[in-house]
Amino acid sequence: MTDTEHGAPRTAAAFRTVYGAQPHGIWAAPGRVNLIGEHTDYNDGFVMPLALPHTTLAAAAPRTDGVLRLHSGGADGGVVELRIDALHPVPGSASETLSASRGGAQRSGGWAAYPAGVVWAMREAGLPVGGADLHYDSTVPTGAGLSSSAALEVVTALALNDLYALGLEPQRLARLAQRAENAFVGVPCGIMDQTAAACCTAGHALFLDTRDLTHRQVPFDLAGEGLRLLVVDTRVKHELGDGAYAERRAGCERGARALGVRALRDVSPAQLPDALAHLADEPQLQALVRHIVTENHRVEEVIACLDAGRTRAIGPLLTAGHASLRDDFAISCRELDLAVDTATAAGALGARMTGGGFGGSAIVLVEEADAATVGKAVTEAFAAAGHTAPRIFEAVPSAGAHRIE
Ligand code: GLA
Repeated sequence: MTDTEHGAPRTAAAFRTVYGAQPHGIWAAPGRVNLIGEHTDYNDGFVMPLALPHTTLAAAAPRTDGVLRLHSGGADGGVVELRIDALHPVPGSASETLSASRGGAQRSGGWAAYPAGVVWAMREAGLPVGGADLHYDSTVPTGAGLSSSAALEVVTALALNDLYALGLEPQRLARLAQRAENAFVGVPCGIMDQTAAACCTAGHALFLDTRDLTHRQVPFDLAGEGLRLLVVDTRVKHELGDGAYAERRAGCERGARALGVRALRDVSPAQLPDALAHLADEPQLQALVRHIVTENHRVEEVIACLDAGRTRAIGPLLTAGHASLRDDFAISCRELDLAVDTATAAGALGARMTGGGFGGSAIVLVEEADAATVGKAVTEAFAAAGHTAPRIFEAVPSAGAHRIE
């Protein structure tokens, strides 16, 4: 039994306590780390996430009166009650404004906008979704760049898919979840996190082409090869909605327009020198373009290594990806750099920040025999620099969203 399944009885019991009835089922969706391919997903590029063993569980039951009730074991504030026909996206809305701006619905706190947004997105798509009672418990760290929001969205979409017998494929659920986050919550994220939560499988990384959404499960048996992938949660909370992510995205779109391509994915490494020359007057745009083009190529190189059974060879590619995110994309921070520099100096095969940036987590590829030493070196370096102690744990490639009972 996995940790996720262990948590299910507690989640069912909490549902009974909150709503005074039995849930009709329990569903799970995981957090993720991205192995390589950062900020490429809104450039029609390649990404390669894997699911974490950390999950968000939802216990749920349908309602016939058009009411949506949401409760989280991890958030203060009691049950959030909303009418599904009163859910409307507000231009520029942040999750905080869910209540006041949406037809007098009860005050929510930020988290409820994600599941509410999923219900809205499903109904906007014409799907016959009614009300529901939902209770959530989660072991996905929040604000750590590990996609707790996507886990919450996707577990909600999957639960509603089953409760209302919609028969939707995982990738469709991912797109609905992304629509909820883009249009309802107001975060202009790409499709990677929701696809990872919906489509990853245990023992694999997911190679996704975000242009046409074709994907391939790539075997990633770290333990079998005597390797470990560590996650270093720097405890620096990142916030995707704060404008810097949107700025990078807008910059990439401007770069593509300036170069006359549909998306930066269409610039090959061989075309990069010409592209950079074309943007000579705009050094910031040059840097964004250079990151995207080289990062997309790094994904292809990582795939080639994994397909050839040369897992250790991906280490330097990960570290090169970090340098590109730090120097060209300018989204790292002191703590992430310290984690990466310390880990590589202490013998890791490679390391990089993962996710949106500006805090959150780094990943470290390391020989199993060196994992403890490398982890200790990072912890000590954080203490010496006066940073909050990082949380370090292993990323075991785990299952995507599924029904538990
Ligand atoms: C966040 C977004 C993703 C992706 C990453 C960066 O996690 O939600 O869509 O853009 O940042 O790779």
